[in-house]
Formats: sequence, C-alpha cells, structure tokens
Amino acid sequence: MKKVLALALALCMVFALCAVSASAEGKLVGVAMPTKDLQRWNQDGENMKNMLEAEGYAVDLQYASNDVQQQLNQVTNMINSGCDVVVIAAIEGSSLGSALDLAKEKGIPVIAYDRLLMESDAVSYYATFDNYKVGTVQGNYVKEALDLDNAEGPFYIEITAGDPGDNNANFFYSGAMDVIKPYIDAGKVIVKSGQVEFSDVATPTWKTEVAQTRASSILASFYADGSSIDAWLCSNDSTALGVTNALEDNYDGEWPIITGQDCDISNVKNMIAGKQSMSVFKDTRTLAAQVVKMVGQILAGEEVDVNDTETYDNNVIVVPSFLCEPVFADVNNYAELLLDSGYYTADQLA
Ligand code: BGC
Repeated sequence: MKKVLALALALCMVFALCAVSASAEGKLVGVAMPTKDLQRWNQDGENMKNMLEAEGYAVDLQYASNDVQQQLNQVTNMINSGCDVVVIAAIEGSSLGSALDLAKEKGIPVIAYDRLLMESDAVSYYATFDNYKVGTVQGNYVKEALDLDNAEGPFYIEITAGDPGDNNANFFYSGAMDVIKPYIDAGKVIVKSGQVEFSDVATPTWKTEVAQTRASSILASFYADGSSIDAWLCSNDSTALGVTNALEDNYDGEWPIITGQDCDISNVKNMIAGKQSMSVFKDTRTLAAQVVKMVGQILAGEEVDVNDTETYDNNVIVVPSFLCEPVFADVNNYAELLLDSGYYTADQLA
C-alpha cells in the first residue's frame, strides 16, 4: 500500500513539474522597465528575470533610460520578435499606443507592471501595489505626527508629488491629500508657497534633481526669513531625497517630517540618520512573483488571479488588477522589514 502511495506521489510530482515547464517551455517573455536610474526598477527587472527564468521562460529584459521613444521601440521589437507575453512598466502611460495596438493585432497579452498603461484596450491585466493606500499611509502619518485633530496649529507644510505621466502619481497624491486637504481648508495647515494643486507640485520623471530645484526655490522664496516647516509631504523616495538635499543646503529651522515611498537605500539611511521620517515598503519580490504567476496563468489558459476590477480605468477599459499591500516603514521597523526578510544586507545600509 505504502509503495502504491509513494508511486502515486512521485507521479503527481512529475506531473506537476511537467505542468510548470509545459506552459513555460519555449515561451519568451518581454519585460520592459523604464530606467536604471532609480533603484527600484533595477530590483524589479532583476526579480522578474530571475523568477521567470526559474520557471523555465526565456526573458527579454530591457531598460529605456526614461526615454519614451526608446521604450516604444523596445516594446515594438519584443512584439515583432515573438514574445508570448509582454510585461511593461511604462515611462509615460499613454505613449505606447502603437505598440499596444500591434500586440492586440498579434494576440499577444500585455501586463501593465506597477504603472497602468493608459488609453488602450490592449492591456490584459495590471499588477501593482494599492497606490491610493500608499498616499493615505503618507497623509495619515503627517496627520498623526502633527496631531492635527488636537493640536492648535497652524502647521506649515509643503507638498512634492510625482510624474504627471505616471498614473500612479495621481493616486499617491489623492490618497495623501484626501487626508490633509480638510486641514488646509480649515486653516490648520498652511502651505506657504500656495502650491497645492497636483500640477503645481508634480515632479516630471520623478527626478531627485527636479524635486531639489523646486524645493530650493520654495525655501528661498518663502522660508528665508527663518520661519519653519513642520512637514514636507513627498510622494516617493527619489523626490524625498531631493527635498532633503534642498533642506540641508537652504534651511536652518527645526527639521520637518518628510514622507517617502520605496525604501530606497539612500532613504533608509536617511531614516536611520533621522532625516526622513517614514517610507512605504513595496516589496518588489512580491510584485514580481505575482506577475510571474499571471504570466503562467495566461499561458496555461487558466483564470488569472485579480483582486480589483473597479479602480483602474485607463480611459478606455477598466483593467482587471491585482493590488499588493504596501507596508508602512520607519526607523522602528526597517530592520525587520528590510534586513530580516533579506531585502537588503546590513552592509548595504551601513
Ligand atoms: C512607482 C513608485 C516609484 C515611482 C518613481 C511609481 O510608478 O510606483 O514606487 O517611486 O514610480 O520611480
């Protein structure tokens, strides 16, 4: 009896292995990443490549130096060179229309990775983190740290948001502003620069230097008289870094609360040094694993795991999405989140 069971188990295992490799065998997956300039996309790209290859897929991984035309060419090549599925983290969500049309024409499924692909019905699925929640975590942090419900105020804050070409940037901004705006309207929070609307606080391509230049000019124009800033609400770590640099160079007041997102190495170091108050950890391994699972399900003709079919409207269709959970990070829990989980080594943060 035992022998029969062992044989059955062995057959099941062989069958399971064959099933995995059967959907992956001979399949090529294109992975288009926006840039190598920002830390997270290097991690995303590496994770995707390693995980896909471990499943038996061939992988065409491309980075596009934040150049929209370059990414368009890369994706077009992926489609023309026979990729079976294409995974895209777009630089500019609306700029890949012609490549997406081609994918549709050839019946190649497209997965939007982290950033939604806009203005197209050729997007099969979307995997990301809960972007609105990222913003509310940042907004709530500021609200609680300043005790906005109880303290008298007024408090002075400034705001730095993300790239207008990235659909996520609106979600981060709205999530945070839905928490903070009522206090601005009530006069308890004052934005001295008067720059509150998304279009005024956006940071094209999320560049640290762009955020730094704008922050420096705000400091020179509105805080040079020695008045202090209580919080600088930043949508992510690359912009938080720019704001931190600007404050270091141009500000003598009490150090403000600074928010961020991604747990980039420089920013975690800044959290440890007391220069950045918090970040939001989005484990790129979790997102990559989810997308690899999607690829497998699509190619095996199985039902694809999604957990949101309402939020992500790309102006043509509502794209079925899987939202991973973002996690609050600060100096108190970074070691557990980032070191114990093997995301970084202690050396990287030293
Ligand atoms: C991502 C963020 C990242 C930003 C800049 C966004 O689309 O969701 O994690 O900080 O791009 O790269």
